[in-house]
Amino acid sequence: MVKAEDNKGTAEGNGNGVIVVKNLTKRFGNNIVLDNITLSIEKGKTTVVIGPSGCGKTVLIKNFIVLLRPNSGEIYFKDKRIDNLPDRELNKVRTHYGFLFQGGALFDSFNVAENIMFPITQHSRITDWRQAEDIVNAKLAMVGLDGFQNYYPAKLSGGQRKRVALARAIALNPEVILYDEPTTGLDPIRADIINELILKLQRELGVTTVVVTHDMTSAYKIADRIIMLHNGKIIADGDAEHIRNHPHPQVQQFINGQASEDDLAVLRASSDIAKAQFLPRDFEE
Ligand SMILES: Nc1ncnc2c1ncn2[C@@H]1O[C@H](COP(=O)(O)OP(=O)(O)OP(=O)(O)O)[C@@H](O)[C@H]1O
Ligand SMILES: [Mg+2]
Repeated sequence: MVKAEDNKGTAEGNGNGVIVVKNLTKRFGNNIVLDNITLSIEKGKTTVVIGPSGCGKTVLIKNFIVLLRPNSGEIYFKDKRIDNLPDRELNKVRTHYGFLFQGGALFDSFNVAENIMFPITQHSRITDWRQAEDIVNAKLAMVGLDGFQNYYPAKLSGGQRKRVALARAIALNPEVILYDEPTTGLDPIRADIINELILKLQRELGVTTVVVTHDMTSAYKIADRIIMLHNGKIIADGDAEHIRNHPHPQVQQFINGQASEDDLAVLRASSDIAKAQFLPRDFEE
């Protein structure tokens, strides 16, 4: 049973926020990954989340769809509180989202068409397979891969696999698409194709887009807004210009790809590399 006060967000409304997070704290044991984060993801916009490895970007977007539940705080999807819903109801809410997980795993034993068909057969009421096939063809055309229906994932390049995963993510016409590191592991040209697709889907389908990335070229190209996470907090939030000129040293180090003086001092002081070139006595004959 949801208490009346739990629904405060509904009563107040969440403005233009499609996903709204209030005072979200997420920890694993003593590791506080997200520390009292409040954030509203605007409808129809592309919000990019940046930050160093391990800072909690994936954990944040998993909370958006309640694949992880917060330790405290609230999560809303279109004014409806969702962090306290049972799994069965969450599955319904999740059909409004498309997500491209880090790694973008396809089912290897399914061909391209079957991969895209999967969410349709799981979640939609479509029973006419020809109608489902039309949807698959249309989604593949959107990502520029019409004709690849019968290919198996092993035959595709990394960029093509990401595009198939993207076609699968949009199979149910989601209102929100969450991308976790969509350009990682791709060469700059293939990465740019993914950037263009993200922009195209946002423009043509009007979807609300959230992209987690390390790739600042991609961030600057696609973002209406960039948020930087560091030590569990949002330390910067604004458009590309705002981030480029941000005074916070951690923001400048991140966007310019510089290690901090502290990190470098540890490396310079360490003689482990020299030691590692010699076998320990135990291994000598
Ligand atoms: N299921 C889990 N159980 C325990 N700890 C976890 C779990 N998931 C994430 N963590 C921890 O939470 C922290 C944030 O992880 P997260 O995957 O969100 O980082 P990230 O910012 O996405 O990093 P990357 O850029 O490398 O993908 C890490 O310290 C990680 O070890
Ligand atoms: Mg991650």
